[in-house]
Amino acid sequence: MIKNDNIINVRNLTIRYGNLTVLKNVSFDINKGEIFVIVGGSGCGKSSLLRQLIGLEIPTEGDIFINGIDFINSDNKQRNQILQKFGVMFQSGGLFASMTLAENIALVLETYTQLSDDEIDDAIDIKLASVGLKGFRDYYPAEISGGMKKRAAIARAMALDPEILFFDEPSSGLDPLTSAALDQLIIEINRIFHKTIVIVTHDLASILSISHRIIMLDKNVKGILAEGTPDFLINYKENMNVFNFFNRKPSV
Ligand SMILES: Nc1ncnc2c1ncn2[C@@H]1O[C@H](COP(=O)(O)OP(=O)(O)O)[C@@H](O)[C@H]1O
Ligand SMILES: [Mg+2]
Repeated sequence: MIKNDNIINVRNLTIRYGNLTVLKNVSFDINKGEIFVIVGGSGCGKSSLLRQLIGLEIPTEGDIFINGIDFINSDNKQRNQILQKFGVMFQSGGLFASMTLAENIALVLETYTQLSDDEIDDAIDIKLASVGLKGFRDYYPAEISGGMKKRAAIARAMALDPEILFFDEPSSGLDPLTSAALDQLIIEINRIFHKTIVIVTHDLASILSISHRIIMLDKNVKGILAEGTPDFLINYKENMNVFNFFNRKPSV
């Protein structure tokens, strides 16, 4: 069942909050090294699914395997080993406003590694340079632009050299040009650092420029409406909502 070119396997996942079933019996795989995009209308369960993938919530039913290891039923030690493979950027970015960019990244390294102060200093410079923020270590989040904040949050997500990066709506709040530049950064991170990247977004321009594979979730179906490469979904005639979304036509 589990192929070793998959880094994540989701099997029969059901997400329920009280009486509300958000997703029912959802299964999909994420390949090692790909940019995998989760799309779908507001309220269809994208963020909920992401929270389950990163272990913030436990599925109502179903299984999640990370590198073939059962994530849901893992013991504490295994679970912590898996969590160390994850880097996350939430929709809000989530930098600590009272800390400089360097301090934001240092906090992660101090908490989870045994690195010396000098090593942490070097790591901060390397991480900031890798997102195009060389020289900004002593800036506070309020002193930099929205696009730079996102870059800094990505640098922090990469602090522990994770295998998988999870981004929830990375381009939210950005103008189209800044958003396009962020897409380029995401493509570079994937190519240069060989990270698997899982992204929730409904920004079509971004989806078409960065994704290798996509799943489209749907509120009524409570599951995956369509799945495939951008090319496949642009030409998808089996469901007009899918076709219209990928061809930028208003939904029926
Ligand atoms: N912790 C929660 N408790 C109750 N309902 C929730 C919770 N999280 C999300 N929901 C509901 O689940 C549905 C999916 O939400 P969400 O995953 O945030 O969707 P999306 O990110 O696709 O907009 C929504 O109806 C939302 O109100
Ligand atoms: Mg959301």
